Amino acid sequence: MTVLIAGCGDLGTEAGLRFAELGHDVIGLRRSPEKLPAGIRGMHADLSRGVPILPADVKIVIVSIAADSSTEEAYRAAYIDGLHNILDALDRDSIEPRRILFVSSTAVYKDSDGAVVDETTPTEPTRFSGKVLVEAENLLLARTRGTRTQPIVLRLGGIYGPGRTRLISQVLSGQAVIPAQPRHTNRVHRDDAAAMIVHLATMEQDPDQVYVGVDDHAAEMGDVMRFLALELGNPEPPTAVEDTASNPGPGDKRCSNQRLRETGFEFAFPTYVEGYRAVLAGQGIRHP
Ligand SMILES: NC(=O)c1ccc[n+]([C@@H]2O[C@H](COP(=O)([O-])OP(=O)(O)OC[C@H]3O[C@@H](n4cnc5c(N)ncnc54)[C@H](OP(=O)(O)O)[C@@H]3O)[C@@H](O)[C@H]2O)c1
Repeated sequence: MTVLIAGCGDLGTEAGLRFAELGHDVIGLRRSPEKLPAGIRGMHADLSRGVPILPADVKIVIVSIAADSSTEEAYRAAYIDGLHNILDALDRDSIEPRRILFVSSTAVYKDSDGAVVDETTPTEPTRFSGKVLVEAENLLLARTRGTRTQPIVLRLGGIYGPGRTRLISQVLSGQAVIPAQPRHTNRVHRDDAAAMIVHLATMEQDPDQVYVGVDDHAAEMGDVMRFLALELGNPEPPTAVEDTASNPGPGDKRCSNQRLRETGFEFAFPTYVEGYRAVLAGQGIRHP
């Protein structure tokens, strides 16, 4: 069985290696396939423009493309044009995969005073990034309706992990500032995000259409920063007098992973404490 990973970067590669370990053939589509490690067969594609002929035995498709920059144009090129082109290519090549999993984001939810958010919460994105992702999610659901392909939307929280050290660097350099208003941050370690992709794409039971992919603990940003400072032997970061437009802190919502948990998924890093300890210990690499 062949697994196709469209947009095979850090997360896609980690998932791909895990699929390969389970014995699947894995193809990674990207503009620089030469960066892919052994175990993933690279195929050159600029998904915003088109998709090469695909092998007939593709049973699982993972769409994990990321935008080149934070502009609406780049988001539309990656998420809308990219997904459109993949779905068109599957039709063109008469391939009906068993499952297509689209990696989305909790940015599709509005920031809501610390309220609990799950798959039943209406999507009300406040920024263009979330709006484009909702459009892409709907595109996948619409295009698979009435077919034998099961669509899965995985809405990931903020990914952290090997090589994703922005927050650590901020704490180390003394630039970290704890938001004035307590705000929750919904996170997931890169390895758990990759494990979720493999789990949802291969589990025996029929999947739901949407899953929220965050760890067990929607932590307060200040607690994460204080924890990092303590682990690094640095002074506790100061707290902002007031939040400003340029430093508003992350959005305040608490995402629930209950639906994912109910599928039997187990976290390697249930909270930021285990996850950041592994990062600080140098475990793993960020795939190029
Ligand atoms: N970062 C977060 O906190 C976060 C949170 C929620 C969800 N997500 C989602 O997680 C997913 C994976 O993120 P990641 O960290 O693995 O990103 P990444 O390392 O940047 O990987 C994305 C890959 O997409 C490929 N790509 C981009 N445009 C392409 C195009 N036009 N044609 C073909 N390939 C293209 C890039 O490879 P080439 O340059 O070689 O083409 C890149 O390696 C994304 O869908 C992102 O939206 C991320």
